[in-house]
Amino acid sequence: MEVSRVSINNIQLAYTDTGVGRPIVLIHGYPFNRALWTEQLPALSNDHRIIAPDLRGFGDSDASQDTSTMNQLATDVAALMDHLEIPSATIGGLSMGGYVALAFYKQFHSRVRALVLADTRAQADTEEGKQTRAQQAEKALSEGMAGIADAMLPKLLTPETVSKRPEIVKFVRDMMLQAKPEGAAAALRGMAEREDQTELLAKIMVPTLILVGAEDAITPVADSEKMHHAIDSSRMVILDHAGHVSNLERTQQFNDELLHFLSHS
Ligand code: MLT
Repeated sequence: MEVSRVSINNIQLAYTDTGVGRPIVLIHGYPFNRALWTEQLPALSNDHRIIAPDLRGFGDSDASQDTSTMNQLATDVAALMDHLEIPSATIGGLSMGGYVALAFYKQFHSRVRALVLADTRAQADTEEGKQTRAQQAEKALSEGMAGIADAMLPKLLTPETVSKRPEIVKFVRDMMLQAKPEGAAAALRGMAEREDQTELLAKIMVPTLILVGAEDAITPVADSEKMHHAIDSSRMVILDHAGHVSNLERTQQFNDELLHFLSHS
């Protein structure tokens, strides 16, 4: 995947900028990187300009040591759009990328033409969830990413994918192993302290596509249903035979829905 780099907000941020047409920013989840969108780029790039950043701490971007708040990650995306002279775009994100997309909407709503919220949620972490994040951050820093990747895989993918599609399992695992432990820890702290965006949902006035794997074990269908009910201008699609990484497990349907949405929004 082609890479460019820019110095923004005290880090070097890596990103892919490809295709021609109306811009869409695709924001990856945790602990992935812009390669998450590998299967979306060829499908979209004939009619769209796709900007896919590596969020700070992931892929080829620098890590910051402290806490990568969702607002910080959203501000990085805005700075990247400034650098690329893109005043507004469709903003899409999967999971943590969706948390960032909602934080982006809250801060910069005039720069959002439409939203894509894939396998994500509006609620903040529970107290228990926050404690688990803290433990995971310690684990990443002391042991590296391998243990985290192996423990996450069965939650990210359907049992069918895990047993029958080894190429997807390897792809997702390799992406997770590329995360820098300090970057992953900073993002975990950031997710733990993210604000609840439930109140924001009713204020979202742009066309919004909500996609979720029917078997998503991390951000289940019920979380997407809550967003769909609260966002008037939303459409929700449940992808069968897909877990949390629905864009990789049901590529064709994910891409078809995205293309249809983009051409009507
Ligand atoms: C993600 O895929 O971005 C994370 O699993 C989200 C989360 O842990 O809340």
